Amino acid sequence: MSRPSIQLIRGFKDILPGETELWQHIERTAVALFEDFGYREIRIPIIEKTELFARSIGEDTDIVEKEMYTFGDRKGDLLTLRPEATASICRSYIQHKMYAQDPVRKFYTIGPMFRRERPQKGRYRQFYQIDAEIFGVEAPYADVELIFLLRTLFERLKVTDTTAHINSLGCPACRPRFKDALADMLTAAAASLCSDCMRRKDRNPLRVLDCKAPGCRETMRSAPSILDYLCDACRSHFSTVTDMLTQLRVPFKVDKQLVRGLDYYTRTAFEIQTGALGAQSAVAGGGRYDGLVGSLGGPETPAIGFAIGLDRLAEIVSLNNPAAVRKPDLFIAALGEPARKLAYGWSTALGLAGISASMDFGDKSLKAQLKQANRLGADQVLIIGQSELDAGAVVLRDMAAQTQREIPVKAIVAALIETFCKPGAR
Ligand code: HAM
Repeated sequence: MSRPSIQLIRGFKDILPGETELWQHIERTAVALFEDFGYREIRIPIIEKTELFARSIGEDTDIVEKEMYTFGDRKGDLLTLRPEATASICRSYIQHKMYAQDPVRKFYTIGPMFRRERPQKGRYRQFYQIDAEIFGVEAPYADVELIFLLRTLFERLKVTDTTAHINSLGCPACRPRFKDALADMLTAAAASLCSDCMRRKDRNPLRVLDCKAPGCRETMRSAPSILDYLCDACRSHFSTVTDMLTQLRVPFKVDKQLVRGLDYYTRTAFEIQTGALGAQSAVAGGGRYDGLVGSLGGPETPAIGFAIGLDRLAEIVSLNNPAAVRKPDLFIAALGEPARKLAYGWSTALGLAGISASMDFGDKSLKAQLKQANRLGADQVLIIGQSELDAGAVVLRDMAAQTQREIPVKAIVAALIETFCKPGAR
């Protein structure tokens, strides 16, 4: 009896050829934009000490409370698969004393993150983020730059159906006053809250603001606005952000109910939301975290960043762009071993010259090989069998135009390179 095949873990997925071309296109577009604006790539580990995430993202957040993949390694250290990149980048910034030479640093990173959420469309347990962070800039221009970059990237990817929501979450000087006002309001409205928010209202009342349960949403319509509680410094920071976004013609919506699922944020918080993905409306999110580097043991350093959900972005981009799979430039149909040997040498020489030549290594008939060329989408097929070898010339067939021409075997590689490297040939 054959053994059952092994399936992927729930909430994980393969990204297959046909999809990876689009992912590469998105990644290349993002990297080019970041590099143009002075960001440098950083690569951080996929596993860190659990304490790093608990201390930065916050013990009372959904991520730390119930979504982390945490395990003891063989020595008993508690380790976690990273649920996000910001904490690790801060750790690295501090560990390598990057602040010493020049505290102003701009980074980007792209890679997988892990959260044990309930899987659904647009929500996975392993998902990918494109992340950008700026360290050492307190001025609101950093906030504006990041939101501007998101807007530009989405435009370059022809994603237009999105809105930037922005809010200010205040700072340790002004947020406690807002929290108190919110907690009073929540106590008065406790009867209309869902069971999760009953718990949140004492431990993390801000999170009630973005609860999706209908009763909580209705109640929170009359919640106080944090923007009315900002101290002068936070108010002025936020108004420069909104002024500059207006000046740069970046559309945005001030959303007093926007809070983020991670505790490290201060001042500006933002999300890029879309209606294209059903319940999962956030395709990117970020904000300022001026206290985090200090609280992780580094010098007090203002910082801000964002992360784009690459899986979600790819889904949106694919709605407008059918996958662009690279087709072979040429299919070589070889018949018989001597022809195959020769053709194999040609195909590798062509590959080195940047021309992708596909061939079949089995003993298939010409008809079957032509069918295969068709399936692969090759526009040109080179046919070589014993009679072509004897005659010293092969046939190059243009499948679309239904024409063919003979090429002498002697000069074949040079002739093909010339054919395919002509401007507009591919
Ligand atoms: P976040 O809002 O938790 O922020 O995640 C950013 C984006 O990652 C979300 O907007 C969403 O598109 C995507 N995402 C999150 N969870 C999933 C999931 N389970 N499946 C698919 N996509 C998901 C952060 O992670 C912060 N570190 C962002 C940041 C950087 N803040 C400052 N710097």
